[in-house]
Amino acid sequence: MGSIQISPSILSADFARLAAEVNAVPSADWIHVDVMDNHFVPNLTLGLPVVESLVKASPRPLDCHLMIEEPDRWAPGFAEAGAGSVTFHVEAAAAPIRLARAIRTAGARAGMALKPATPIEPYEDLLSELDMVLLMTVEPGFGGQRFLDVVLPKIRRTRDMIDRHGGVVWLQIDGGVSAETIERCAAAGADVFVAGSAVYGAQDPDAAVQALREQAESAAARVA
Ligand code: DX5
Ligand code: ZN
Repeated sequence: MGSIQISPSILSADFARLAAEVNAVPSADWIHVDVMDNHFVPNLTLGLPVVESLVKASPRPLDCHLMIEEPDRWAPGFAEAGAGSVTFHVEAAAAPIRLARAIRTAGARAGMALKPATPIEPYEDLLSELDMVLLMTVEPGFGGQRFLDVVLPKIRRTRDMIDRHGGVVWLQIDGGVSAETIERCAAAGADVFVAGSAVYGAQDPDAAVQALREQAESAAARVA
């Protein structure tokens, strides 16, 4: 397992003050940017022009989570814009291997996301093409939803699969991650944690990042 990383989601930040919001979490490893197109998910957020500006404004690399149709067409552009990591949904990708290679060629880490009901098993052979697997623990589309415990066995199976595979693939969890749920995810083998409302809804967002990291680190250490 890689070291624990925290990626605050600006979906729960103030969109009118994004530069200040990305600078409010200096303890974060990444800034998670949720791109939604109102087709793959029933919500609309931001696109490439905003990401291009955020790349310049953010002291941390951007972790772009694309909840969009036709990622084969659009995802490499986010890598070219300077995102450090670009994650597409496998449910929407026409050619996930070609797409992961295009993202890496454009200079970003390639991530593949799965909705809660999408099984990981058919994609085991794709691990060598990926830098990260993102398992959604809510239905994608909105922040502030309840964590789906039903995904925990899939987190464990994905961790086992990654360990068997032997390469370094990060395992990211997104949705309902909070002080109440992060320990379960870390114990199941996740190492990168997205948190929206638990960070930007907190009185002190950076203190929330530090507290989540400490909880995840001790939960991971207990099972190691
Ligand atoms: C939901 C997004 C998440 C969202 C998480 O579709 O992918 O990144 O911001 O928000 P919380 O942490 O509040 O569940
Ligand atoms: Zn996300």
